[in-house]
Amino acid sequence: MTTLGTPLSPHATKVMLLGSGELGKEVLIALQRLGVETIAVDRYENAPGQQVAHHARTITMSDPSQLKALIEAERPHLVVPEIEAIATPMLEELEAAGTVRVIPTARAARLTMDREGIRVLAAETLGLPTSPYKFCNSLEELQVAIDAGIGYPCIVKPVMSSSGKGQSKIDGPADVQNAWDYAMAGGRVSHGRVIVEGFIDFDYEITQITVRAVGADGQIETHFCDPIGHVQVSGDYVESWQPHPMHPAALEKSRQIAKAVTDNLGGQGLFGVELFVKGQDVWFSEVSPRPHDTGLVTLCTQHQSEFELHARAILGLPVDTSLRNPGASAVIYGGVEAQGIVFDGVEEALRVPGTDLRLFGKPESFVKRRMGVALARAADVDTARTNAKLAASRVKPRKV
Ligand SMILES: Nc1ncnc2c1ncn2[C@@H]1O[C@H](COP(=O)(O)OP(=O)(O)O)[C@@H](O)[C@H]1O
Ligand SMILES: [Mg+2]
Repeated sequence: MTTLGTPLSPHATKVMLLGSGELGKEVLIALQRLGVETIAVDRYENAPGQQVAHHARTITMSDPSQLKALIEAERPHLVVPEIEAIATPMLEELEAAGTVRVIPTARAARLTMDREGIRVLAAETLGLPTSPYKFCNSLEELQVAIDAGIGYPCIVKPVMSSSGKGQSKIDGPADVQNAWDYAMAGGRVSHGRVIVEGFIDFDYEITQITVRAVGADGQIETHFCDPIGHVQVSGDYVESWQPHPMHPAALEKSRQIAKAVTDNLGGQGLFGVELFVKGQDVWFSEVSPRPHDTGLVTLCTQHQSEFELHARAILGLPVDTSLRNPGASAVIYGGVEAQGIVFDGVEEALRVPGTDLRLFGKPESFVKRRMGVALARAADVDTARTNAKLAASRVKPRKV
């Protein structure tokens, strides 16, 4: 039985989000609707999620002592990581001491905080199909790994990075030096370590959203959303849609892989399992133990969005992963470098049939920063994609 409290009272149910960007903001809104008391943490002030939570805290989440001090001071019932760059060994310590419950588990947060933990788990422990890969600590090691079997083309990524930062494709020997330099400049924490992966010439890639929630008998049950198709440009998502049509055998394999990974990571909550598909072959790429950016589309396609599903699953409540209608999302980039920008064309954008918008409220815009997303529902995915892109293109961020 789950009992929820009254926020700002002695019996409040308290949830702390570590990371309060656009994905965290939607999780916080879902929690607010259930009367949960929320604490939004980020590295900078007025992050999107901080604008909709009861409490806002600004710390360096990769600093173990700051993280420990905050969790001990706030004493949330649940700690929900929204980003990867967190002092996860400290979360494991606090979880082991019984101070807090981490979503889905502190171990899952640690294993997915860089590319190495999760890749080794998936490929070597679980034996799942992945691209061929090698971890390298120097340009020399990278060249040896490519020559000794990874081959061309291949992809180099910093071990610690997201949204395609520091990632590049190598087509031949002439690109190796540049790819190494780019990875060194783009990694989140420059440990000088990269993964080099053989290039998978997939037909399409999907996000298989997978939810571990408590069933009526008190046992954890696994639920799957319809597959989400997406387009990535330089490793960053620009467009997604749901459902993505799949051969039944490929869908079956995708769900087996998603189940194997999420069973191992354990706990309660929602996961975004990224998969590459070619014909009936499926490769595991990576997994987020939290809502996925391509899953923003579920705000207009499912009865319960991925954010509502996450909120429910972590609180021990039942979930419904069913699709309501086809839909698509298209990213709105800042396009300018400025603080406190304005958005022209919002009305024109919303004149496109079946559309909706999220403007995240980020205090500062960068050319390639995701500032909002257009959503479109339609009778079919093609119409939804066209309309989402049209609506996104009508929103014009500008400096004041
Ligand atoms: N081995 C690969 N073969 C082909 N494409 C890849 C490979 N690895 C990554 N990509 C492409 O780059 C995108 C981003 O890579 P990913 O590993 O998911 O990085 P991130 O953690 O930054 O999202 C993928 O969604 C896919 O489009
Ligand atoms: Mg990815």
